[in-house]
Amino acid sequence: MDKILVLDFGGQYNQLIARRVRSENVFAEIKNFDRITVDEIKEQGYKGIIFTGGPNSVYDPKSPHYDPEVLNLGIPVLGICYGHQLMAYMAGGEIASAENNSEYGKTTVYVDESTIFESVPHESICWMSHTDFVKEVPEGFKVTAHTDICPCAAMANEERKLYGVQFHPEVTHTVYGSRILHNFIFNVCGCNADWKMEDFAESTIASLKESLAGKKVLLALSGGVDSSVAALILHKAVGDNLYCVFVDHGLLRKNEADYVENLFKGKFGINLVRADAQQRFLNKLKGVTEPEKKRKIIGEEFVRVFEEEAKKIGKVHALAQGTIYPDVIESGKGSAAVIKSHHNVGGLPKDMSFEEVVEPLRALFKDEVREVGLKLGLPKEMVYRQPFPGPGLAVRVMGEITEEKLSLLKEADAIFREELEKAGCASMANQYFAVILDTRSVGVMGDFRTYGYTVALRSVTTDDFMTAEWTRLPYEVLERASSRITNEVKGISRVVYDITSKPPATIEWE
Ligand code: XMP
Repeated sequence: MDKILVLDFGGQYNQLIARRVRSENVFAEIKNFDRITVDEIKEQGYKGIIFTGGPNSVYDPKSPHYDPEVLNLGIPVLGICYGHQLMAYMAGGEIASAENNSEYGKTTVYVDESTIFESVPHESICWMSHTDFVKEVPEGFKVTAHTDICPCAAMANEERKLYGVQFHPEVTHTVYGSRILHNFIFNVCGCNADWKMEDFAESTIASLKESLAGKKVLLALSGGVDSSVAALILHKAVGDNLYCVFVDHGLLRKNEADYVENLFKGKFGINLVRADAQQRFLNKLKGVTEPEKKRKIIGEEFVRVFEEEAKKIGKVHALAQGTIYPDVIESGKGSAAVIKSHHNVGGLPKDMSFEEVVEPLRALFKDEVREVGLKLGLPKEMVYRQPFPGPGLAVRVMGEITEEKLSLLKEADAIFREELEKAGCASMANQYFAVILDTRSVGVMGDFRTYGYTVALRSVTTDDFMTAEWTRLPYEVLERASSRITNEVKGISRVVYDITSKPPATIEWE
């Protein structure tokens, strides 16, 4: 399989570059610049290298540098932003700072003839974010693009297949960005488009079938996308030798545990053990109000339940995990795998011994995991699920978690989600749920005074969940949800809508 190396110099778009390459059906790997040597690059047979951007200035002694020999390997290189400046610097060019003239945002770029600019018009919009620029291109290079401010928006040494662009082709604001990456990958590097999810699933299943033949594999299934897809792949590879443990801690949404059980056990015929541990978790959480303490207790108890169930299965050979590529990049920066903490709430048993840890999705981005899930028959509603915190509804019950509050919350949450979806508003929002407060308030129903809990409805619109806007839901939807909740859920007397963005608030309340 052909592959491209994305050599990471600290740019904020490094994952995006790899994803764009992969969306051209070519495999791309991200490596931090200090985690791979020139000799290793040579050995691993990359068809092309992309230097990412980065926040530094090449003359700064603390800035990341790389062995200039990389330019002599005969492997095509595309430098982006800082990567472009670094390439110029390594090849003997000159960089300067345009301190009072930095370019940021959408900028008109004028390109000349170059292999990477095939089918790109002379004038188009690109995304710029820089202060430094290449003042003097190295010997053998020519300037291939400029803007009104920047004299060298791109450079090329066609003979040595070395290219640099000051702007960011990976960002969608660069109108011809995908075309430029496409040209580099195919016209310059000569890659074959052989990274396809159906092939990935097939070949992964085939190789696991071989390496795990006759061996028992254990997986903690949460019902989230990653562990679900991992379960389907492994089930196809080892069949009944896959044992999934699904811990029902009672903090899942209404009917969710049954749904997960029916789907995996019923529809897919997977060996699934459901540990009904609701009461255990509630007992442990009795009297606890501090959010971090709740999370910790849930994490620890989860491990304990998982361990007990695993023991019943007997000796297993491998522990499988739904680790995906961003976890690998973020947790280890390429170093040995860190066992993925279960939903960030704790860790899997440290004292259980396994001969092997199997992570079939280790190379995939989330959108690729979803594609594999769909190919393997996972229902759409599972594949495109909203994120759900590992500690579950515990972070949506303010104050102490009691059976009563939990049950009121489940009902209110189900009504809110149903009304929002029924009104066709699901596409406006990326995550929506209810929260139950620790406060009661007075109400009146018929001739009676009520004194019930308050529920807050939360709906956010976001790209990345790092920042979020509260969703401008139509009043009618909020009204219907509010009236149904107060009518149908006895014990809730007031409903409010959370109109705080993130920041300053977080999406979850705890
Ligand atoms: P916050 O509340 O920090 O949440 O704005 C951002 C996103 O992360 C989800 N979230 C979690 N996901 N384990 C998870 O796997 C957790 O402990 C956790 N806490 C928050 C949250 O639902 C939102 O989508």
